[in-house]
Amino acid sequence: KVLILDFGSQYTQLIARRVRELNIYSEIHPFNKIPKNVSEYKAVILSGSPMSVRSVEAFHPDLAEIRAKKPLLAVCYGAQYLAHFSGGEVAPSDTREYGRAHLSYVKEGETFFKNIQKGSQVWMSHSDTIKSLPENGELLASTEDVKNAAYKIKGEETYAIQFHPEVYHTTDGKQLLENFLIHIAKLNPDWTPDSFVEETVAKLQAQIRNDKVVLGLSGGVDSSVAAMLLHKAIGENLYCIFVNNGLLRKNEYTDVLEQYKGMGLNVKGVDASARFLDALAGISDPELKRKAIGRVFIEVFDDEAQQIQDVKWLAQGTIYPDIIESVSATGGPSVTIKSHHNVGGLPDFMKLKIAEPLKALFKDEVRRVGASMGMDKALLGRHPFPGPGLAIRILGDITPEKVRLLQEVDAVFINGLKNAGLYDKVWQAGAILLPVNSVGVMGDERTYEKCVALRAVESTDGMTADWVNLPYEFLQKTSNDIINKVKGVNRVVYDISSKPPATIEWE
Ligand code: XMP
Repeated sequence: KVLILDFGSQYTQLIARRVRELNIYSEIHPFNKIPKNVSEYKAVILSGSPMSVRSVEAFHPDLAEIRAKKPLLAVCYGAQYLAHFSGGEVAPSDTREYGRAHLSYVKEGETFFKNIQKGSQVWMSHSDTIKSLPENGELLASTEDVKNAAYKIKGEETYAIQFHPEVYHTTDGKQLLENFLIHIAKLNPDWTPDSFVEETVAKLQAQIRNDKVVLGLSGGVDSSVAAMLLHKAIGENLYCIFVNNGLLRKNEYTDVLEQYKGMGLNVKGVDASARFLDALAGISDPELKRKAIGRVFIEVFDDEAQQIQDVKWLAQGTIYPDIIESVSATGGPSVTIKSHHNVGGLPDFMKLKIAEPLKALFKDEVRRVGASMGMDKALLGRHPFPGPGLAIRILGDITPEKVRLLQEVDAVFINGLKNAGLYDKVWQAGAILLPVNSVGVMGDERTYEKCVALRAVESTDGMTADWVNLPYEFLQKTSNDIINKVKGVNRVVYDISSKPPATIEWE
């Protein structure tokens, strides 16, 4: 496996994903928490960072167990870090080095640059530049503006690059990672969905034995795939609970419950809509909404779990980005934007052991694992949907009538996407009910009704997202359908903000 030390770059997760796309397992750890079992990692990658190595508070990890002991790839900040603290020189650059660049020099015969030619496009994103290489540094590549774009340290398997191999715009980034990991570090590309299922099922069986496990299904991909893995491992000893919080999509509760039963899962549906809506009455603040929903969910879930005799384990569909975000929140180098409640949301009094079979996977990997177990494509292809559901898409306070209205709008939009063959081209879509009324005219009547916003984004992991350029004809038809079919809405707008600086959900 590969260790990625995170210095807080926006791109660190992408490094992990690119490595895994090569069928090599990788883990991210904060730079200041190098795992004790570092000897088990076959190679190490240092990430970029918003920090400058010249600042007094520059991140300065102790690499004694790593440097010259195993293959090391230093990216961006990592490359500057190696230079700055080992006899090289890093200084502010005269020009902004941000965006596309092309390799103008590549040293011949280097395995590190195997199959990568002069002219190859790379992505730069830094304001400091490496003026001179560290001790024993040997130049491997340059661009027009950046002389020291790549170097190695003689006598070590240490490589450093100023550009970002993990971003899409670095055309040969994947090849470069392959060169480093497979040809230099000699890692085996044997980490596949099938091998993951096989290993995980065996691990779960050994861990859980004949104990009973309870799992909360959400209708989403993660909890469903987690359930199938456990079902494969322990069969009827898995007790699934599917809670209707009254904030799901139209008909979702009944449809999804049926689907779970069809998959052979031992699942109990609990309709707690009224309890959730009561707890939310009068609350407008996004974080308070999240907290109220989290609290009621735990109460409802606990009531149900108590009814399963001798249950010893709680299984969760936690995935890797959830873990990284919460690591960051507790001492890592980046900040938290919203309080998601799938991690650490368990009250101590439940005293259950935790099983999280997907905690090492990214979303797309979860989908591939589901597919390798033969799960329904439509279920695996479902758009992500937030735990607090429509509550964070109804701006302002929540009433049953607003929920119903938004469910109708959302259904028109989502079914429209499906009918137009656009659903699978979009990573996530939904409608937002705005707390404004506006004037309209229908027939000869004046109306003064609600406005809804439609949101559709492209993303790979929800960390960054671009709004989708949906065809005008589709938007036109959808707007018409919504206003004609959903009484109470007279205006539809389309959200054209990307993340960052916006977020996907409005709250
Ligand atoms: P944001 O709005 O932060 O959303 O750009 C990123 C992704 O996370 C989903 N999301 C949540 N999921 N509980 C969840 O399980 C939450 O509290 C929550 N808030 C946002 C959002 O739908 C998007 O996919």
